[in-house]
Amino acid sequence: IKMIPDKAPGEEVLHASGDLKKQAHIPSFEKYKELYIRSVESPEEFWGDVAEDFFWKTKYTGKFLDYNFDVTKGDIFVKCMEGATTNICYNVLDRNVHERKLGDKVAFYWEGNEPGDEKTVTYRELLQQVCKFANVLKSQGVKKGDRVSIYMPMVVELVVAMLACARIGAVHAIVFAGFSAESLCERIMDSQCCILITADGFYRGDKLISLKLIADEVPWNPEVDLCWHSLIGGASEECEPVWCDSEDPLFILYTSGSTGKPKGVLHTVSGYMLYTAATFKLVFDYHSDDVYWCTADIGWITGHSYITYGPLANGATSVLFEGLPTYPDVSRMWEIVDKYHVSKFYTAPTAIRLLMKYGSEPVQKYNRTSLKILGTVGEPINPEAWQWYYSVVGEKRCPVVDTFWQTETGGHVMTPLPAATPMKPGSATFPFFGVVPAILNESGEELEGPSEGYLVFKQPWPGVMRTVYGNHERFETTYFKKFPGFYVTGDGCRRDKDGYYWITGRIDDMLNVSGHLLSTAEVESALVEHEAVAEAAVVGRPHPVKGESLYCFVTLNDGINYNQKLEVELKKQVREKIGAIATPDYIQNAPGLPKTRSGKIMRRVLRKIACNEQDLGDVSTLADSSVIEQLFENRCCTAV
Ligand code: WT7
Repeated sequence: IKMIPDKAPGEEVLHASGDLKKQAHIPSFEKYKELYIRSVESPEEFWGDVAEDFFWKTKYTGKFLDYNFDVTKGDIFVKCMEGATTNICYNVLDRNVHERKLGDKVAFYWEGNEPGDEKTVTYRELLQQVCKFANVLKSQGVKKGDRVSIYMPMVVELVVAMLACARIGAVHAIVFAGFSAESLCERIMDSQCCILITADGFYRGDKLISLKLIADEVPWNPEVDLCWHSLIGGASEECEPVWCDSEDPLFILYTSGSTGKPKGVLHTVSGYMLYTAATFKLVFDYHSDDVYWCTADIGWITGHSYITYGPLANGATSVLFEGLPTYPDVSRMWEIVDKYHVSKFYTAPTAIRLLMKYGSEPVQKYNRTSLKILGTVGEPINPEAWQWYYSVVGEKRCPVVDTFWQTETGGHVMTPLPAATPMKPGSATFPFFGVVPAILNESGEELEGPSEGYLVFKQPWPGVMRTVYGNHERFETTYFKKFPGFYVTGDGCRRDKDGYYWITGRIDDMLNVSGHLLSTAEVESALVEHEAVAEAAVVGRPHPVKGESLYCFVTLNDGINYNQKLEVELKKQVREKIGAIATPDYIQNAPGLPKTRSGKIMRRVLRKIACNEQDLGDVSTLADSSVIEQLFENRCCTAV
């Protein structure tokens, strides 16, 4: 609590307008501070108020929040409202239709890839479709606790499929539709899914993606394949929800791990429900007349929390967009904002930087007067992009909420509240309610005041992940072993003199390409699987739009020559193993790699070489310094 300043600074910061403050849920920094203290000192009271909005079949039996964050004291665990029974699908649909009388309210304006391709779905219709599909799943033998893999484009059926799972207590494991067959397979195997829900295909811009072909690489097989439309046609609209314990699993979502093998992040029912509902309401200052649009894909956590669960829990109306910001042209986003009168808009720095390149004219073709709040997520936003977003898109009327969080955190953990927190461009500002951050140095000492180091959290909030599916030990090792007593984010962070937090980026072997995390290890192993490659090392090279691009160094097997054809093959290899997001931007032939005497590749040095920075810092641990000159000589100047 001492980390939150008594007063927000008055200078060199940007404030929300008086109008926004007047009707805001959290109208001032004083109010934020008061509630923050309550949320940390008495979580059961703070979250108890949030829980009152939901339906509970039975009440919780133990502590509101029970946990151990210290590996030296036993197993790591987090439990929220254990013993209570509820159903998240019931809470986001039935409760809205029956108790809150929102049946005729639009849940989603679906906007297809092709302009003019559109569809509106009300809460009542969504509930009907979910019940029908839940019955379909049951008729296929899917039961509570079973895992269901979903590999679908951004269509209403994707939301229907995930909520149908939640309704019957099945655990959805959604795989982003941009992933390759091999990545899909790895995830299905790891979570032991009993069924895969997919689609024939979809258009991304003018490119056709044939999902079904990727999924099985054989045509329709009547022995294993069933058709959604023929099954759902005859299904009943009545489907009693399966009542779940608070700590029953809700979903698994894979995120890159530094060893290369993705981790199945597991979230459970009640804590996740409370947390996504509260963050959505307060961070976007949601009101019932809002039209909200999050441009993320549901295949990522942003879509899970802030397209499906958070907005629906609040009875919000959202835009569900299948397409791209640049198709058919770079005005598409603003055209959609005007078309649906979007008031709260949430996107990623990479999209902002991409559109920024085309200047303000494509933005100004549309009036955007409906906009009230702008959000960003996925990676640190550079102040230039922040300013463009704030000034050009929002015309300085709309606060920008820079929300820092992770697949693991379930929802926003460091973020401004739009009417309460004075903004500093590029800073995720302060913790959300219930979140207690700290900055540690390399030896694990907590730093006070202005400082820079590892960003960690001292105690759980309801929405934090519970385990890595099937591998609790990996969960403990990844997040809790480095600094006993703390959840380690893997991000670096600076705190300024006013107490503001600035995320500085990953400090582990992770890359952030267009807001998507990739581990260097997974790209390296895709490269070395090629018969020509003996060794590979991958680093991030700053990229004006994507944040980072992939710069790959490959050492070839003896007797193999590097050429254009091989380069194309390697690129294709990575795409096929992982997916298009992991496509290498640069590949450099590297007969030798910089290694320490113990054989560890010095990625720090490779990062400098990739950027042509001559000052390599301390290279005294390098086993053979002659490789450096050669690496500089062979640098790639143009992307492949
Ligand atoms: C990593 C988590 C959370 C949904 C999207 C990504 C980076 C995310 C921010 C931000 C600075 C950010 C971090 C984090 N990140 N948001 N506002 N400012 N960095 O989810 O794939 O689990 O990635 O994204 O490095 O650890 P994810």
